Amino acid sequence: MKLSEVRKKYLDFFEKRGHKIVPAASLLPENDPTTLFTGSGMQPMVPFLLGQPHPLGKRISDSQTCFRSQDIDEVGDNRHTTFFEMLGNWSLGDYFKKEQIEWMFEFLTKEIGLDPEKLFVTVFCGNESLGIQRDSESVEFWKKAFLGAGIDAVDVDFSERDGLQNGRIFYYDEEKNWWSRSGVPDNMPVGEPGGPDSEMFWDFGEELKLHENSQFKNQPCHVNCDCGRFLEIGNNVFMQYKKTETGFETLPNKNVDFGGGLERITAASNNTPDIFLIDVLEPMRLKLEELSKRRYNSTTNNNEVFLGDTRAFRVIMDHIRAVVFLIADGVTPSNKDQGYFARRLIRRAVRFGKKIGIQKTFCSEIGQIVVQTYNAQYPHLEKQQKTVLEKLLDEENKFLKTLIKGEYEFEKFFSEHGKISGQDAFVLYTTYGFPLELTEEMALEKGQVIDKKIFAEESSHHQELSRAGSAEKFAGGLADHSEKTVKLHTATHMLNQALRTVLGDHVFQRGSNITHERLRFDFSHPERLTDEQIKQVESIVNENIKKNLLVHFEILNLDEAKKRGAIGVFEDKYASLGDKIKVYFIGDSFSKEVCGGPHVSNTSELGSFKILKEESVGSGIRRIKASLI
Ligand code: ALA
Repeated sequence: MKLSEVRKKYLDFFEKRGHKIVPAASLLPENDPTTLFTGSGMQPMVPFLLGQPHPLGKRISDSQTCFRSQDIDEVGDNRHTTFFEMLGNWSLGDYFKKEQIEWMFEFLTKEIGLDPEKLFVTVFCGNESLGIQRDSESVEFWKKAFLGAGIDAVDVDFSERDGLQNGRIFYYDEEKNWWSRSGVPDNMPVGEPGGPDSEMFWDFGEELKLHENSQFKNQPCHVNCDCGRFLEIGNNVFMQYKKTETGFETLPNKNVDFGGGLERITAASNNTPDIFLIDVLEPMRLKLEELSKRRYNSTTNNNEVFLGDTRAFRVIMDHIRAVVFLIADGVTPSNKDQGYFARRLIRRAVRFGKKIGIQKTFCSEIGQIVVQTYNAQYPHLEKQQKTVLEKLLDEENKFLKTLIKGEYEFEKFFSEHGKISGQDAFVLYTTYGFPLELTEEMALEKGQVIDKKIFAEESSHHQELSRAGSAEKFAGGLADHSEKTVKLHTATHMLNQALRTVLGDHVFQRGSNITHERLRFDFSHPERLTDEQIKQVESIVNENIKKNLLVHFEILNLDEAKKRGAIGVFEDKYASLGDKIKVYFIGDSFSKEVCGGPHVSNTSELGSFKILKEESVGSGIRRIKASLI
């Protein structure tokens, strides 16, 4: 069955049962500061699950595009993706367990045609301290449904030691069978909705577990283990609780929140344990085979070690598909927030492309295939096509430059030192901009783990040196302590803060040089500043100069400085917390920065601040020259 058929069958099925079908919401959640991405179908539904009436009624259904950034590192096996579509249906205080379970069973076995013999389910075993009971109700409904298909479904407690115990319905605790956006009950913030859930699994067959390479072959099977035999295809959440200061209260309504993995259900319908074999990924796969002149070797087993081409194909397919949808929803690759993930996806895809021997830029070509494949369901992709493809190409080109240099240096270190030490990783990072995570991945492929403690020590040592360096420079050594230089030094702090305000918290000082005439300030930022941004930065500095802010310093230890929000030394997490440092404050809170001084004592001394020039000085670093007039 094709993915689009499964989607259509699902939406038709629920429409016939009184549900209004709503379009997928953006991958960038609106009015939800708690999360960067839409990672489940229920996110846009939270206000309604909490009790607000939905304008379309009490029965809603959709297929929601989702992105789970936390799964980036999992991609490579036969089932994980960062981007996926989640089929959803909601009862907002209408039907509950009985209908949901009956319908799910009917949908999966009749509409999709899954063999009920190969379906398994889990339910919540209850938790006395939470005052929430074992979900025997759901068990009764499941038993009835299976009995209708001639199957006597036995319910048993999950046991790692005893495995399946001829059961079909398994009780698990809140680690597995409780759902909220923040996971288990203990992690839920006050006000968060959640509830026990009942998950459904497809059995691909015991052969997978018994596979010769399987590390699980001597272990008992259970549906939640990672042997590859079982795949979770859907989750019925009985969302009826809200977290309080002391425990839980019931929500105004008993709700159902169902989420089903569209790709996974499609894979189950074809009985292919490798979800990368479903139809929507095929055009990308074929193009990658053509570009790389290698074959995609599907592996059925979930736990083989995927260091070969298969993993690379999967990473590229997943990441490019995800980033096409992200860019179409408004993300630009950058060092910040959602943009950071888009950048990371593209960079990983590019690196894996090189691994399978792709010689030229390829991301936009693959991106175009994604647009074509998904356009019928998501016409906004075609509208955004030009932007999407341009951004892909631009980011790929930027990264190729960094990569070529970094990989070359990596190999050089490796052949010279026989391994990559924490120091080497640090040099690759500071000198060549080569990300630690890539160094780690490349080292792992050579069977080596990077000593991150050494990396951290190097980094902290580096900080001390630069601190000592700047103390020296500022004590003896600003060009001089002339009045003009000192004023420009204070202006540099104000500029740093104004840049962070306008551009974001990814801005860090990367270099500073002050003469009588001008200041020169280098900082991290991925792209050219617009005229508008330059104007904003100038006016923030000038407005604060006019406020006649007092400038003073305090000697603090590192963690006090950190608590008070000082910048400068916290560009990395590695400095040691006992260190004493000098922090300069401009006003009560305008600027707080670790620095040796000297500075003026009041901003009124500065006059008027003017940016003379803005330019690039290498990958991700910009330079501003400015003066006081
Ligand atoms: N909200 C539930 C999930 O994401 C259905 O698994």
